[in-house]
Amino acid sequence: MEDSFGHHISYLRISVTDRCNERCAYCMPNEFQEWLPREGVMSYEEILRVVRIAVSLGVSKIRVTGGEPLTRRDVIPFIKRLRKINGIKELGITTNGTLLSQSVGKFKTAAAALAGAGVSTVNVSLDTLDERKYVAITGRPYLERVIEGLDDLIDAGFDKVKINTVLMRGRNDDELLDLVDFTHQRNLLLRFIEMMPVSTNDVLKESNFLPCGEVMKFLSDTFGGLEPSANYRTNGPATYYKISGRDQLIGFIGAMTNLHFCESCNKLRLTCDGKLRPCLGSHLEFDLLSEIRSGASDERIADFIREVVARKPKAHDFLSNYQPGRKMIAIGG
Ligand code: 5AD
Ligand code: SF4
Repeated sequence: MEDSFGHHISYLRISVTDRCNERCAYCMPNEFQEWLPREGVMSYEEILRVVRIAVSLGVSKIRVTGGEPLTRRDVIPFIKRLRKINGIKELGITTNGTLLSQSVGKFKTAAAALAGAGVSTVNVSLDTLDERKYVAITGRPYLERVIEGLDDLIDAGFDKVKINTVLMRGRNDDELLDLVDFTHQRNLLLRFIEMMPVSTNDVLKESNFLPCGEVMKFLSDTFGGLEPSANYRTNGPATYYKISGRDQLIGFIGAMTNLHFCESCNKLRLTCDGKLRPCLGSHLEFDLLSEIRSGASDERIADFIREVVARKPKAHDFLSNYQPGRKMIAIGG
């Protein structure tokens, strides 16, 4: 599938739940918000049907997200079924890491269960290595569990686990080198992400925002250079640089400052309540679940997906003061 700007759509991110066991300020509002009622959430059967149709249209990469995907019951058997769909070449999951060490069924850890289910890549969110700051950022005292979870991923045989670090001035800007060293020691791939305006407004004050460019300059000054790594490609919008004199790549996801950010976008998003979104940074969303529940045929669903692709914007609207109608947690980073 190709949109009107030549974006080749091959990647579907699926949010399986809006629920999360953490409370990151940049992702969800602090004030109490009701979770979606169960019947408003897509069933696994409904998601699998959409994926089969999307794959027939050219989607070959799937990423399972949330909320926190590991909080949804039976998510591992669901992932196993996803894996069996012919045509899926890559199956990833993005998690906050807090539940990776828990045992699941016959597996000693969820990390091992994910490997057993055929997951190829795991991305873990981790913004700080300091327990106190971890609590301040996520609202929960789970840093130790996340680090244990990372070790479990390595034990389960995952290589190049990615760490997503949201950059926050005054919060984690004094830990950049610690994060670089921590990920170097464990052979994890660190990616710095610019904060995007998808949550409550006060989180994204100018004073909290730390641009990727500033981090690149700091790392370059510290290590004596950063070399662009043009041939290292993942399926996301990150650009990768190698640290001079070190066998380590660092990714930068600069949605706010990189003007070319959207050029190679290949994504669609499916929210847990069955809305298909052509772009994270746009209000556009289309109610696929209503269509499904009113008895749409596979052909109708395929047309629906094509129509959403055709309406994919050229680029996100974050810079033109995008006021999200929906919090990140309900979209599925
Ligand atoms: N800005 C940037 N990144 C965010 N994430 C969640 N909310 C935001 C935000 N407002 C990140 C999480 C997760 C990834 C899917 O998105 O850290 O790793
Ligand atoms: Fe693609 Fe939208 Fe993300 Fe840009 S913001 S990379 S268009 S999904």
